[in-house]
Amino acid sequence: MSRELIINGIYRHFKNLYYCVEAVAKHSETEEEYVVYRKMYGDRGRWIREKQMFLSEVDREKYPDVQQQHRFEFLRLQSERIFLRPWEYGDASRLFELAADPDIGLRAGWKPHQSEEESLNVIQNVFRNDSTWAIVLKESGDVIGAMGYGPSCDCGLPAVGNEPTVGYWIGKPYWNQGYCTEGLKLMLDFMREQGGCKSVISGHFVDNPASGRVMEKCGFVATGEECLCPELHGGENRPVRVLRLKL
Ligand SMILES: CC(C)(COP(=O)(O)OP(=O)(O)OC[C@H]1O[C@@H](n2cnc3c(N)ncnc32)[C@H](O)[C@@H]1OP(=O)(O)O)[C@@H](O)C(=O)NCCC(=O)NCCS
Repeated sequence: MSRELIINGIYRHFKNLYYCVEAVAKHSETEEEYVVYRKMYGDRGRWIREKQMFLSEVDREKYPDVQQQHRFEFLRLQSERIFLRPWEYGDASRLFELAADPDIGLRAGWKPHQSEEESLNVIQNVFRNDSTWAIVLKESGDVIGAMGYGPSCDCGLPAVGNEPTVGYWIGKPYWNQGYCTEGLKLMLDFMREQGGCKSVISGHFVDNPASGRVMEKCGFVATGEECLCPELHGGENRPVRVLRLKL
C-alpha cells in the first residue's frame, strides 16, 4: 500500500498531537528516505523519522484502543495557511490572551474573558465537542481563533426546521488577512460532507459588518430580515442582520 506524503500538510499522530511535514530527505549513504516534520505544539521543534515508519500502521498489540489506522494521518480540516483541530485544556492561557480583548467578545455577543480559569472553563464546557475547533496557523502552530457550528434553536434567529448556525472569532492581531474566511470555508465543506442539513442560518450585529463580509465571501446571502438575539451578551436591543447559506 502506498500513501503519498503532502509537503506543508498537517498530520495527526495517533496520540492526538499535530505535525507539519516539511520535507522528505535521503540519507547520504544508505539513500533511505526520511520525513522532516515540525511539531505544532511545545517548542515547535523539528523531528526526522524513516518515511516507512512515518507511514506505517499503529501497532495494534501495543495500542489496542487507538481508533486511527496509521501512526500519522493527514488531517481533513486544513487549507494552505491554517488547520482546525479540537481545543485542548493546554490552550487555556492562549485562549485567555486572545479572548480577554473586549473587541472580540463584545462584537460576537459574549463577555471578554476575565481570567485563565474562565478560559479553561469555556474549553471544558463549551469548546470540547465534535463541532468546535481551534483555528491554528500552520506556519507557527499558534492558535488564532475559534470556529464552530451548532443548533440554532436557542437563539433568536428565524431558523427553518433544524437549520444549524455558525460562530467564529479571530484574535485581533490576525484580522483582515482572510483567516476567518479560510476557516469558515473549511468548516462548511465539512458540514456538506457530513450531510443532514440543507442550509445554515447565521447573523451578525448590524454594527459588526466585518462578520457579514466573511459570510458573504463564503456564499451566504442576506435574507433581508433583522432580529434580536437576547441570549447574546448585549443582544437585547442590538439588531442582528440575518443571512442564510444553501449547502
Ligand atoms: C469578524 C472576524 C471574525 C473576521 O475575521 P478576519 O479573519 O479578519 O476575516 P477575513 O479577513 O476573512 O475577512 C474580513 C472581511 O471584512 C472586511 N472588513 C473589515 N472591517 C470591516 C468594516 N468595518 N466594514 C466592512 N467590512 C469590513 C475586510 O475588508 C474583509 O473583507 P474583504 O476580504 O472583502 O476585504 C473578526 O473581525 C472578529 O473576530 N471579530 C470579533 C468577533 C466577531 O465578530 N465574531 C463574529 C460574530 S457574528
